[in-house]
Parts: sequence; C-alpha cells; structure tokens
Amino acid sequence: MLSKGLPLHAEDRHTPAWEIPWDIPLPRAAPFGVHSIGKPPPTLGVMAMNPVKPAPVAASEEAARARPDTLTITDNRTGKQYEILITHGTIRALDLRQIKADSNDFGLMSYDPAFTNTASCISRVSYIDGDKGILRYRGYPIEELAEKSTYLETAYLILRGELPTKAQLEEWSYHITHHTFIHESIKKFLDGFHYDAHPMGMLISTIAALSTFYPDAKDIFNPESRLKQTWRLIGKMPTLAAFAYRHSLGMPYAYPDNELSYTGNFLNMLFKTTELKYRPNPTLERALDILFILHADHEQNCSANAMRNVGSSHVDPYSATAAATAALYGPLHGGANEQVLRMLLEMGSVGRVGEYIRRVKAGERKLMGFGHRIYKNYDPRARVIKQIAEQVFEVMGRNPLLEIALECERIALEDDYFVSRRLYPNVDFYTGLIYQSMGFPVTMFPVLFAIPRTAGWLAQWEEMLLDGEQKIARPRQVYLGREQRAYVPIESRA
Ligand code: CMC
Repeated sequence: MLSKGLPLHAEDRHTPAWEIPWDIPLPRAAPFGVHSIGKPPPTLGVMAMNPVKPAPVAASEEAARARPDTLTITDNRTGKQYEILITHGTIRALDLRQIKADSNDFGLMSYDPAFTNTASCISRVSYIDGDKGILRYRGYPIEELAEKSTYLETAYLILRGELPTKAQLEEWSYHITHHTFIHESIKKFLDGFHYDAHPMGMLISTIAALSTFYPDAKDIFNPESRLKQTWRLIGKMPTLAAFAYRHSLGMPYAYPDNELSYTGNFLNMLFKTTELKYRPNPTLERALDILFILHADHEQNCSANAMRNVGSSHVDPYSATAAATAALYGPLHGGANEQVLRMLLEMGSVGRVGEYIRRVKAGERKLMGFGHRIYKNYDPRARVIKQIAEQVFEVMGRNPLLEIALECERIALEDDYFVSRRLYPNVDFYTGLIYQSMGFPVTMFPVLFAIPRTAGWLAQWEEMLLDGEQKIARPRQVYLGREQRAYVPIESRA
C-alpha cells in the first residue's frame, strides 16, 4: 500500500470551476506516491548508481501484467528502500523528497539543467515522436493537415481540441478577421523605432503594449475574456508584423482587408502599394498558409515553456505572449531560420560548403537549421517544406541558394559527425529560402514563425491555466556558492 498524506494527488487540489465548455477537461492525474518499505535485505557493497541486474523476463503475459508499475530505490546512505509509482513512463520528482539522509535533510531533488529529461506538464495539444519523425496536432498528422486544412482551421483545432464544423469555422474566422485592426496609438508606438530596428524587437514590444490597451485581459479565469484575447492575438499578430515591416521600409501602413484570407490579408498588409485592391498570388498565399500550419505548435519547446512559465504568474496573455515571442527570437529557436540564410550567404557557393562543414566539425560553427532536442530523425515539417519550396520557386524562380542548401544536406547526411549525433535538417533549414524568394528580408523570418505559433502558445497557456495541478513555475537550485561570511569594509579588501 502506498503512503497517504503526500500532496501529489490531483484530487487533493482545488479543481478550477472556470473550465470553459469547449476545452477538453484534463483528467485527474493518476496517483503517484512513495513509501519507505524499510530496510532491504543486506546488499553490502552495492553502490546506489550501479546498474541493477534486470529482472528476468516474465514467463507469460500474465506474469508481466502482475508486475507492479513501481520503481524501487535503495538509498545506500541509510539502507532504506522506497517504492515509487511509475505513471505514463514518469515518476513524480516530488516523490523523491521523502528520501532523506537524516531528519534534518531537505530530501532528494532531481537535477535537470535545460529540462532534458523532465516533463513539466500533462498536455494534449501536440505529440512528437522524435525517433520516428512524427508530429501530430490533437492526433492529426501534420502532413494531413498541411495537405487538407487551413491555418485558421488548424488554429481552431489546436485551441479547441476538435476540427470545427462549417458553422464553427465561419464564426471563428469571422471573429479573428474582425480583430485584425490595431489601435492607432500602436502605430505611433511603431513610429518611435529606428528605421533599422529588428522587426522581432518591434513585435515583442508591441505585443506587450497591447496589454495596456486591453485591461480586460487580466480576467484570465473568465473563459469569455480568454476567448476574446485569443481572437485579438491571432487577429492582430499579422497586422503588428506587417506594420513593423512597413515601418522598416518607411512605407505607409496598409490596413487589413476583411475580404481576404488570413494569409492573403497578411500579404496585402505587407506588399500592397498603389493598387486599389491587392490580389495575393494563390500559390504564394497557400504556401504561406501551409507554412503557418507547420509552425502552429510544437509541444514544450523553449517559447511554449516561456508562455507557460510567465503565464503561471497569472499575468495577462499579451505579456505572456510577448515573453514567448522573446524566447522564440533566439538563434537556437525561431531565430534559426534567419541564421540559416546568413550562413548560406556566407558560404556563397557550393564549392565552399565542404570547408564550412569542416569548421562545424571543428566546433568553430554550428550548422544552423540542423539538429533538434526531440527529433533524432528527419523533422517531418522539413519534408513538407521542401515540397512547398518547389511550388514557390515555380512562381518566383529558383532561389540560387537552394543548391548550397542541398549540398549542405547531402554532405551532412553522409558525414559521421552528423550521422552519429543524429543531426538532420529541422523546420528552419528550408523556410528561409522560401521566405527570401517570396520577397521577405531575413530579419522578418523569425516574425513569420511567431505569427502562427501564437495559436500554439495560447493553447499551451490555456491548458496550463485549466490544469488544477499547475502552480506558479518555480524551480529549485543546487546552491554551490559561498557559505555565510562577514561583510568586509572596502579599505580592508585585497
Ligand atoms: N551543428 C553542429 N553540431 C550540432 C548542431 C548543429 N546545428 N546541433 C547539435 N550539434 C551537436 C552538439 O555540439 C553536440 O555535440 P557533442 O555531443 O559533441 O557535444 C550534439 O550535437 C548534441 O547537441 P546538443 O547541443 O546537446 O543538442 P540540444 O538538444 O541541446 O540542442 C538545438 C538542440 C536545436 C539547440 C541544436 O541542435 C542547435 O543549436 N541547432 C542549430 C540551431 C537550430 O537550427 N535551431 C532550430 C531548432 S528547430 C526550430 C525550433 O523548434 O526552434
């Protein structure tokens, strides 16, 4: 029997009454627990970290089923044994706390810099199998959504858990389309930026500024308010992004056109000049829509984690989205697409790829757009993106950097350095080539990642808020600094 009194059971916690009707409720977490099962039989000489001889394989399926889903830990400092429940392939880190060297001990913690082996939440939004190269949103394979869905439909799916009916999609699209305008003061705000300000910097700042325009957004436990902020954020992201782009060109802002699709309108706000009505090229419009689908969510990545982390302090969703956008900006995350293009430009020709790869292997550079924390196989998004690139090049002409990119991929996929580390092209490797062909400057590339990821961030944020087990995110640390010491007056310091 597992010990009682551990503060780990979902049922012991307050279940929020504000669950919104359209969200799939999180089930109660499976019970976790730990209990000391007293002293083990003498195992003198066996170190705690020594591999334990595996249990013999069960003779029958029945015997296998009878085996408990628990982990037995022997603390060799005390000789005590503990049995910890395993649920969904995890143990609760807090279950380790009861393992103490003596009564003054704080209890055992797990140490996991960069969360390489820690699940921070239970989620139902997207699923990745990194070994098999699988990505699904709410169970639907990304390839199928890219082929058959639209970005707004996918955003609905991600946020609400199910594909919309025709009427639901119409209503959803209507509300998002009617929230694309931004307050005129935001324009003044943008005007204050220098002409060469990075558009991601402008985007982060203006998203944060939106929070001051919508104080009702602080009502985060009100489902109607959350829904309204969701329409606003998904609706306004392309407008903020396009205005930032127009500002950098010194061009007048082009206002949203409600008759166009989500991506068609975005292209309108970016590229409209003197024509009375902007008509997006349907191939480019669809290509961008598919790219938006592919970028819509990606489970607990750095920016989703930032969204959840910052949102866990119960700040409004604009402030949390600004934080997530800032996390995305970095070159190891959404800023990688910009760095890939800069890298390909630096290589300059197919003949210089080999030399660049040599420098990567010598540890002098990184091959941007390669590698992933989760994917240890080809990123399924990169596969779809390669096909879109061909369609875009048919309209816009072949990007001369494509040959360099293909040579990079060819060499890397054959080279032991990359093969042994299981480094494959990720989503950012080919997107830059498409964006460049479509006429975007490199600084806009991370912005093109941030717009569609807003749906994923909001879904992760809402899931976190509705999860009765979540609290303000607050990790522990292992302190290895100085012990207490007396203040030294300045004249006595060496
Ligand atoms: N070029 C060269 N070596 C690499 C690369 C790369 N792009 N990525 C990883 N490695 C090496 C790394 O040096 C390490 O080698 P060693 O074992 O000898 O120390 C090994 O591969 C394992 O890498 P890691 O740094 O432990 O992997 P990680 O999971 O911490 O980092 C990553 C993942 C995406 C940050 C990293 O692969 C990287 O920096 N890639 C380039 C930036 C990039 O393309 N980012 C976009 C990611 S996909 C879009 C998104 O979702 O953000």
